[in-house]
Amino acid sequence: MKFFIDTADLAEIRDLAATGLVDGVTTNPSLVLKSGGKFVDLVAEICRAVPGPVSAEVAATDFATMLKEGQRLAKIAPNVVVKVPLTQDGLKTCKALSDAGTKVNVTLCFSAAQAILAAKAGAAYISPFVGRLDDVGSSGMDLIADIVDIYSNYPAIHTEVLVASIRNPMHVVEAAKLGADVVTLPPSVLKQMYSHPLTDKGLAAFVSDWAKTGQTILDQ
Ligand code: G3P
Repeated sequence: MKFFIDTADLAEIRDLAATGLVDGVTTNPSLVLKSGGKFVDLVAEICRAVPGPVSAEVAATDFATMLKEGQRLAKIAPNVVVKVPLTQDGLKTCKALSDAGTKVNVTLCFSAAQAILAAKAGAAYISPFVGRLDDVGSSGMDLIADIVDIYSNYPAIHTEVLVASIRNPMHVVEAAKLGADVVTLPPSVLKQMYSHPLTDKGLAAFVSDWAKTGQTILDQ
């Protein structure tokens, strides 16, 4: 399973990329608003910090402008993935960009029917939002299960299921159980994944007992 980080914060991206566990980055207009800075320059910096796929979202909602924006974003770096919303114009843009060899991430997916359309439009990634579905009393993970299942019926589909709107480590575990291709994690959730109170307790005991041995490994 690939791990993307869902942030436009360069400092956090660099910090987490240094762990060697980050396969890519996803951004969206709300994350760009939080981080500030000129969008095209920010995407270029992120692409330098992480060699894997970096999703950059178009701002327009009409086909003609989305296509131009997508072409502009794709020129920033070879690892840019253009992100478009799951609308009729968005999928038309997805098809045009994909046919021209640009990878597209279709975002704001909330149903299996939408995911089928995105695959048909040649999307490299489909981004179902699990947290936002859970927030309104639906099961985000049931949607992931449906999409993974449906895509597996068609070997010609190469669209990767990118689980987005992740809120906690259990979302990651559930997505992994279902065989989702990618999770995109807010940095806070990736950090939470390391933590377990028994790890902390066990480590404290080992550190304390080792000190009592009076030994150092590097002197031996
Ligand atoms: O980037 C899209 C998605 O991950 C947004 O998550 O937490 O705003 O629902 P959230």
